[in-house]
Amino acid sequence: MARRILNTGKAEEDRRFESSLRPQLLKDYIGQQKAKNTLQIYIEAAKQRKESLDHVLFYGPPGLGKTTLAGIIANELGVKMKVTSGPAIERPIDLVKVLINLAPNDVLFIDEIHRLNRQVEEVLYPAMEDFAVDIVQREGGSGASRRIPLPRFTLVGATTRAGLLTAPLRDRFGVISHLEFYTEEELRTIIQRSADVLGIEIDENGALEMARRSRGTPRLANRFLKRVRDYAQVKYNGVITREVAAEALDFLEVDRYGLDATDRLLLTTMLDKFSGGPVGLDTLAAAIGEDSGTIEDVYEPYLIKNGFINRTPKGRIVTQLAISHLGLE
Ligand code: ADE
Repeated sequence: MARRILNTGKAEEDRRFESSLRPQLLKDYIGQQKAKNTLQIYIEAAKQRKESLDHVLFYGPPGLGKTTLAGIIANELGVKMKVTSGPAIERPIDLVKVLINLAPNDVLFIDEIHRLNRQVEEVLYPAMEDFAVDIVQREGGSGASRRIPLPRFTLVGATTRAGLLTAPLRDRFGVISHLEFYTEEELRTIIQRSADVLGIEIDENGALEMARRSRGTPRLANRFLKRVRDYAQVKYNGVITREVAAEALDFLEVDRYGLDATDRLLLTTMLDKFSGGPVGLDTLAAAIGEDSGTIEDVYEPYLIKNGFINRTPKGRIVTQLAISHLGLE
């Protein structure tokens, strides 16, 4: 159960639920103040000059608002957004088709941009830099290439880690923005806003309890809200108070730091099988039967940020905080 909630994959229903809660404009977006300040200036400047905005790269753990911000950029610029993802674009021709259908100043959002294959990435370079695509004409055996001009557009790329991108791709982004985990107060405000939108009754302490357990991540906070609402409706009178939120999240196996069953398995495995570490990522992944990329992108950033794990040159080690939190002293 807990594992499904942390899952980064987005089922269709989840996607619809999420987009119904997405703020449409920068002024309604809570948190990520640094990214917002930067975007505000560049968006305003592009609008004044009636030009396309420079290409933007967002990086950071999943669920922090990369897609939402891309949508806001398009809304603020008054243009359309085309959404795709690295794994979805299999052949160069697939990307060419998307590019030639863009209108001037449109936003092209590529999620998981680090997963583009090499050939597709090659198409992206001249598209980003010169607003053109080079088509190789095979008929007649000439092999000559023809350059097709594109309208100016803004590429918004999203990735969990900037280091996963090739250097030539990374260098072509004019704006690179790191998204951070949200504070409890920001998450509390987001939860109360979402509850308002969905007509859910929640008091301030209920929202704060949920915020504490949402791992600094709005996507999780909003998913929890849905589940806690069900719990409040069936077991109580529908109102989410601190007690109801705590009980419902305990039921979901999310503890008071927001750690779920997989987080706890990871920490206890490090302690039980590897004497607390140092242990290498791949060894740890094999021991708990999880993908090492998922551990690195989804689980570990929050555990490191909150001091449950340290990264050392020799591998990961469990901290004293984790040991006392798990009650394993
Ligand atoms: N819903 C999800 N993320 C949000 C954010 N950052 N601000 C407002 N509502 C949100």
